[in-house]
Amino acid sequence: MWSQGFGGAAGRRVAARADGLHLTAAQGRAPLLGPAKAPVDVWSYNGAVPGPELRVRQGDRLRLTLHNELAEGTTIHWHGVRVPNAMDGVPHLTQAPVEPGQSFVYDFVAQDAGTFWYHPHQRSYEQVGRGLYGPLIVEEPEPIEVDRDLTWVLDDWRLDDDGQIGGGFGSRHDEMMAGRIGNTATINGVLPAPLKVRANERVRLRLINAANARIFGFDFAGHKPVVIAIDGQPVEPHEPDGLVVLGPAMRIDLILDMTGSPGARMAVDDKFYEGLEYRLTDIEYASSPLRDRPLATSVALPPNPIPEPVLDGAQRHEVRFGGGMMGMMGGRRIGGTADGSSSSGMMGGGMMNGSRGGMMGGGMMGWTVNGVSASGHVHDPMLTIPRGRTAVLNLVNDTAWWHPIHLHGHTFRVVSRNGVPTARREWQDTVLMAPQETAEIAFVADNPGDWMFHCHILEHQAAGMMAAIRVD
Ligand code: C2O
Ligand code: CU
Repeated sequence: MWSQGFGGAAGRRVAARADGLHLTAAQGRAPLLGPAKAPVDVWSYNGAVPGPELRVRQGDRLRLTLHNELAEGTTIHWHGVRVPNAMDGVPHLTQAPVEPGQSFVYDFVAQDAGTFWYHPHQRSYEQVGRGLYGPLIVEEPEPIEVDRDLTWVLDDWRLDDDGQIGGGFGSRHDEMMAGRIGNTATINGVLPAPLKVRANERVRLRLINAANARIFGFDFAGHKPVVIAIDGQPVEPHEPDGLVVLGPAMRIDLILDMTGSPGARMAVDDKFYEGLEYRLTDIEYASSPLRDRPLATSVALPPNPIPEPVLDGAQRHEVRFGGGMMGMMGGRRIGGTADGSSSSGMMGGGMMNGSRGGMMGGGMMGWTVNGVSASGHVHDPMLTIPRGRTAVLNLVNDTAWWHPIHLHGHTFRVVSRNGVPTARREWQDTVLMAPQETAEIAFVADNPGDWMFHCHILEHQAAGMMAAIRVD
């Protein structure tokens, strides 16, 4: 069932004070399919999917109490935020799980402005998959000039015939292939309604991919979206080379100048998976323009205070990702990698390479990082980097599948892909790797502690594609 429909896609805004905030994780119901349909049983923060949009100023301190009213332990991870290790929300690695009926206080300073999000890190393939996530927006001290600042938290649900969340979380099939891809896309927890705009309006659109597994690739036909930030971090403003691609957990901030004519209706399509394209929503123009030409002011964001990696004398490691079903078509996509550079994304259907991990005598051994498939929780770090030193990790995707690889506690530059230097040396915390792609990332290991390093397709993570990196 691919539901198309109606509802309110406008950004839902819950202003947050910097402290004294409470997030209660509990079972609830949410109107994912709009007011005309039965609400859906979900797990949510403060009774809503997504949870409240936390909005603070750069440099503000956040103090939030998590209350766990679920029937199992949970935590909150502040995805992309450079928090102290004890605030990172990884059960058994940075804190004990917050058990049912218990609470935990998260307390940290928002050093970087940008678009972030929060979600549990305990059994996240089910907890996130049932609706536990929310946006965290850290505003620049002097925001760029826009008419509206909208957040779209994107999700992809697997609903059953009754319009409820289907079971089977963590199934072996999902784990070994593309992850739990769903059948119903939502924006801000509801089936998308048209985005109503006025000609020559300027919108800052903050896209957050909260899906377990779906990669989105948007075509804003007739518009020229300008990417101003990736994973919350400013990037030289540029038009994407093709689709606006977000792997799970990634964020992209766009400037959308509404250059259509009054009265126009224009499509926003998701074209990532070849043969599975669908209309996400429409952009609907009012009959009168907002102004007679688009704004001409700069959309460049000021940089965040991230230390610049020093590649000379850096500590270098190779990290190979392996496993999964080989010879499948599931990772297939024609044309382009995540940053639009040359394609390595085409996999032949008959491709099979017995020397690569994943299949053993017809069985499957899960996903691996440097040959190790983590089970349960990660304890021992895969590698240690001295504090203050630059690390360069050469990531090798030795599988037939896409993987969004996420590092905690740090933001890294994507220095090269398939050996070719990237044009913009993007700062990211999650790098989407095409099948067989390599990517070099570099960062100053300035945040002490043990940090998760894992695939953000949550079924891949659960099936072993995770490790820890120690900064000591
Ligand atoms: Cu968004 Cu380790 O997580
Ligand atoms: Cu993966």
